[in-house]
Amino acid sequence: MSERPEDAFAAEEAEDAPRRPRLAWALTGSGHDFLACLDIIRRLGEVDVFVSKAAAEVIWMYTRDRRPFPPEVRVIRDTTASAAPVGRFYKGWYHTLVVAPASSNTVAKCVLGISDTLVTNVFAQAGKCRLPIIVYACDTKPVHVTAAPDRTVTVYPRAVDLDNTERLRRFERTTVVETVEELERAVARRLGELEPAPQREA
Ligand SMILES: Cc1cc2nc3c(=O)[nH]c(=O)nc-3n(C[C@H](O)[C@H](O)[C@H](O)COP(=O)(O)O)c2cc1C
Repeated sequence: MSERPEDAFAAEEAEDAPRRPRLAWALTGSGHDFLACLDIIRRLGEVDVFVSKAAAEVIWMYTRDRRPFPPEVRVIRDTTASAAPVGRFYKGWYHTLVVAPASSNTVAKCVLGISDTLVTNVFAQAGKCRLPIIVYACDTKPVHVTAAPDRTVTVYPRAVDLDNTERLRRFERTTVVETVEELERAVARRLGELEPAPQREA
């Protein structure tokens, strides 16, 4: 998007609505199970991915790929102060939001009601539109082993990080998951709820 506000707005207005409501997926700059999350997005296909500024850098660090998604995945980057793309939530483009992986930073802001980035805005607006939200929070236990781009590291989330995850669990319509397997199950369950019921034979 250009720096002129009218251009940013026009570019957003020019975006086509999806054929049917989609999954919105917010990617943060947490590297925890980052590649596994990219894999799920690729398999799902019809997803709009909202990418934080940090996530845009982290994608490159983990993949070295300038085009890490197939064409049917729409990528929305954090380029406006007003998070202009969140208007899409009010147009009914999405049925569910997934935030995965969720950094300590984004979780902390979300639980305080701060929405000053694309991803924290997406979380806030999805909540205000009463959409179900699934968050893969990385800070769920006092120690975990995670993959940095070039090595395996041990991480010790602080009390503040663990507290923030607990606070997130109390948000309306919000499911916090702790593993990639749980994330996959939660997404599959939600997509299953949306599938049209089979037609009965007359
Ligand atoms: C390679 C790499 C891995 C990272 N992994 C994590 C992580 O596992 N958890 C975390 O909270 N932050 C992690 N960070 C730091 C976040 O990217 C940083 O806090 C950033 O400000 C988050 O911004 P966002 O929440 O807007 O995406 C990582 C950074 C890098 C460069």
